[in-house]
Formats: sequence, structure tokens, C-alpha cells
Amino acid sequence: MATILVNGTKREVQASADTPLLYVLRNDLQLSGPQFGCGLSQCGACSVLVDGKEVRSCTTTLAAVAGKEVTTLEGLPARWAKQKGLPAADAEKTLHPVQQAWIEEQTPLCGFCQNGMMIKATELLERVASPSIAEIKEAFTTSGPSPHLCRCGSYTAIIEAVQRAAAEMAKGGAR
Ligand code: FES
Ligand code: FES
Repeated sequence: MATILVNGTKREVQASADTPLLYVLRNDLQLSGPQFGCGLSQCGACSVLVDGKEVRSCTTTLAAVAGKEVTTLEGLPARWAKQKGLPAADAEKTLHPVQQAWIEEQTPLCGFCQNGMMIKATELLERVASPSIAEIKEAFTTSGPSPHLCRCGSYTAIIEAVQRAAAEMAKGGAR
């Protein structure tokens, strides 16, 4: 038995301490945003935020996130609402600007990689309010254990979506 903090809520899980966080999120907590791609920290499909930093949940153990805050794709709206101090009623109707930008730019193709892309974008935009194209490329390719991979080739759309999200966040983001 372990207790972890996921998307602002303490959750008790039965998994052993060395269980990959990805398995706990998907199998124990039914959070299906993070995807199982490579299982080797090489693609980014499984990414989540741990204390605001993008990590690969396929190679992160349950024990490694003890006492830390885990945010999955499902938790991005509440994360944004908390950062902006939105009332609970508004928060339930509000997507994170990154998610909204992804919809407006019609970024996903098959969609399999996009969880990791949105998590990485969120990490970047919490750190750099208005990143340059070079900074966006750097974030997605060299700032983690490996580049975030998209087999469908949505990379250009991702850059445009990050720029749209940055503009939306600068305006406050709420719709
Ligand atoms: S599934 Fe975790 S990095 Fe590919
Ligand atoms: S949209 Fe298909 S793998 Fe990226």
C-alpha cells in the first residue's frame, strides 16, 4: 500500500514500491492520458509532471514520487485553474490553454504521442512565458532523456500550438 498525490488528490494504491508509475496511473487509477509507447524512456508518450517537471512515467517507480505532486493530462485543467485562482465552477468548464490550443490547431494526427507533447508544452510554458521557436525545439528534443517522438510527423503543428498556448496564457486563458 502506498499513498501518492495525483492531480491534487491523495490516492491509496496497492502496487509495490517498484511498480512503474505509468502502470499505477493507468491500471490502478484509470488515468489513461499517459500512454505506453516504448517503456524505455525513449519516446515521451507516458510523460507526466512531477513537481512541475516532465518525467517519463514508464521508468519512474511508485516509490520515486512519494511526497511529490504528480499531474497527468487529466489534471491540467485543475492545475491551470489553481494557478489562475479560478472559482471551482469555472475550473470545471476550463481546459488548460495548452489543451485548448491543441484543439484549435488540430494538432494530433493519430494522437498517440500527444499526451507527452502537451505535458512537455506545459512544463515549458510554466518556465518560459513566450518561448522562441528555437526554445520550443530544444524543449522537445534535448531537454529530456530523449526527444519526444511523433511517428505521424506533427512537429510543425506542435510548434504552432505551443505558440498559440503561450499567447492564450499571456491573456489569462479563461474562456
Ligand atoms: S513509454 Fe515512456 S518514454 Fe516511451
Ligand atoms: S500524432 Fe501519431 S504518433 Fe504523434
